[in-house]
Amino acid sequence: MNSVDTIEKLREWRKAAPCPVVLVPTMGALHQGHAALVREARRAAGNNGSVVVSIFVNPLQFGPGEDFERYPRALESDLGICEESGAALVFAPAARELYAADRSIRICEGSLSRALCGASRPGHFEGVCTVVAKLFNLVQPHVAVFGKKDYQQLAIIRRMVRDLDFPVAIRGMETVREADGLAMSSRNQYLSEAERAQAVVLFRALKRAADAWAGSVTGAQRLRELVHDEIRTGAPLGRVDYVSIVDSRSLQPIDVVHDHGLVALAVWFGKTRLIDNVELHREESHG
Ligand code: PAJ
Repeated sequence: MNSVDTIEKLREWRKAAPCPVVLVPTMGALHQGHAALVREARRAAGNNGSVVVSIFVNPLQFGPGEDFERYPRALESDLGICEESGAALVFAPAARELYAADRSIRICEGSLSRALCGASRPGHFEGVCTVVAKLFNLVQPHVAVFGKKDYQQLAIIRRMVRDLDFPVAIRGMETVREADGLAMSSRNQYLSEAERAQAVVLFRALKRAADAWAGSVTGAQRLRELVHDEIRTGAPLGRVDYVSIVDSRSLQPIDVVHDHGLVALAVWFGKTRLIDNVELHREESHG
């Protein structure tokens, strides 16, 4: 595996790269959720292709007062995980390599980014779209892999690719969880022991809503109440940012979940904001 930190070296590598090229964009501090994406990328690349992992803590997607400065950086162990999982190249540039001091173009998605996390993190998805568009232009991947853990991000990237005609296929991967159900996240390491113990309630609450929906509770208000109840009783240290029931394609709030629903939440534990979601989709019947 190679690791490069300049655009010039990346472009040089890309000229001779075995195709198809599959990209996994990350911000590093890699865990088993990221590793699953890299392994999936490896499968998508087939016998002949190559996997690129980008590691870049993108300043543009952090708001003032957010955790850009303290976001965990762990390049050495990240390189180990990338190599083990089948990456051919790691691209880990410094911010000044990617962004000119007088840069003045951003990509702004104007619909899907208003809901959910977009409401509490203004400018966040502009930062995400801008860096991902740059990575697509630099790496020129045939396929790029993203996690459903960041469901809204995945939907917005798909929209950007469609609306701006990027020649890349987007693949979405299921959320990888700790044994107790907590969605893996680089931010979990911020949690105190007590917060970590209570954070398990988030997935339990989402599952409670999903089970209720499978048992025919389709009203969004009732489903939301179930999630709130679970968090209130099981995680007194948690402070809910939002619990939303939306259409999983438009991300618009819905009152009744017939099909294509998504329960998404963001909850603060101290200064740490955790997100998670479950899809409410009817199983295809193959009878
Ligand atoms: P980061 O949070 O590092 O996540 C990188 C990718 O890993 C994203 O596609 C995310 O959805 C996925 N991921 C994170 N935790 C996961 C889990 N538990 N299971 C499955 N997939 C998981 O998302 C970003 O970085 C950035 O916004 C980025 C797209 C790199 C742009 O800067």
